[in-house]
Amino acid sequence: MLKTELCGIKFQNPLILAAGVMGSTASSLNWILESGAGGVVTKSFSINPNKGYKNPTTVAVKGGIINAIGLSSPGVKKFKSELKLINKKNMNGDENIAIASIYGSNSDEFAYMVNEIESLVDMIELNVSCPHAMTGCGAAIGQDSDLTYEVVKASKKATSSNTPIIAKLTPNVTDLIQIAKSAEKAGADAITLINSVGPGMKIDINAGTPILSNKFGGMSGPAIKPIAIRCVYDAYTNCNIPIIGVGGISNYEDVVEFLYAGASAVQIGTSIMYEGIDIFSKIKDKLKFFMKENDFKSIDEMIGYANK
Ligand SMILES: Cc1cc2nc3c(=O)[nH]c(=O)nc-3n(C[C@H](O)[C@H](O)[C@H](O)COP(=O)(O)O)c2cc1C
Repeated sequence: MLKTELCGIKFQNPLILAAGVMGSTASSLNWILESGAGGVVTKSFSINPNKGYKNPTTVAVKGGIINAIGLSSPGVKKFKSELKLINKKNMNGDENIAIASIYGSNSDEFAYMVNEIESLVDMIELNVSCPHAMTGCGAAIGQDSDLTYEVVKASKKATSSNTPIIAKLTPNVTDLIQIAKSAEKAGADAITLINSVGPGMKIDINAGTPILSNKFGGMSGPAIKPIAIRCVYDAYTNCNIPIIGVGGISNYEDVVEFLYAGASAVQIGTSIMYEGIDIFSKIKDKLKFFMKENDFKSIDEMIGYANK
């Protein structure tokens, strides 16, 4: 009943771990998969190691958190050994879906990474949307439709095994539809919407300084959900590739809302910090109940329901 298919990849259920939360090691990714997630996205990694920003890198605010981790990464060589350890099946014998999230500062770097890792994962998510990345990375690419096109095109060209390429986009743009269409035109197999919002800032009123070492960071958690829903709805109306919805999901009602807006699957990040990893199995049970009560036989029937 909860099964969903995305770019030919079959998910046991539509709940996926979002990039950056508990995705730095194979053991934590396997733990999430055993807890009931249909798939996992790794923390974004780059070609070369990157230390990221100094602490503090996250701060709680009303409705969520602000983070500026700075895309810390062990580098592709080291991370490949983690990717190899992700279990292909869970304890029940169900397929686990592993998605690698990568970032770089130009299309050549993305293409190189795709080539390095495509045989180790089921899908690849291009992070062109981080709002606190170093110069030239992240949202600097995803806020420009030409650069987005170049990176997606080069990444698609670099795949030799047809590993689906997902473009993860930022809501922090004037015209999201233009960027989404650009990614689609370049050959993206799917898009993920949205990366964190802002950047935002929190000031320590006793110290009189911003709390994060980077001063500003991306906002995530329940407060950003309405923005994410609108982005998914707009992309579903204007594009013809599947959408993965993410932003503020904490319960089954949120998942239904994303599916109704047009998402084929969803990712969960910040809420894991508050609810723990049980969130996947809890949402699965309640989603099934909702579907039965409302006479939905499959996830497919719910996708874009609010758009009809
Ligand atoms: C601590 C933290 C680290 C993150 N790191 C990444 C990352 O490495 N790559 C990425 O594409 N998104 C990253 N994100 C963004 C999330 O994947 C997600 O798009 C965003 O937080 C909205 O979803 P949420 O409200 O469920 O957290 C990070 C978010 C948080 C809170």
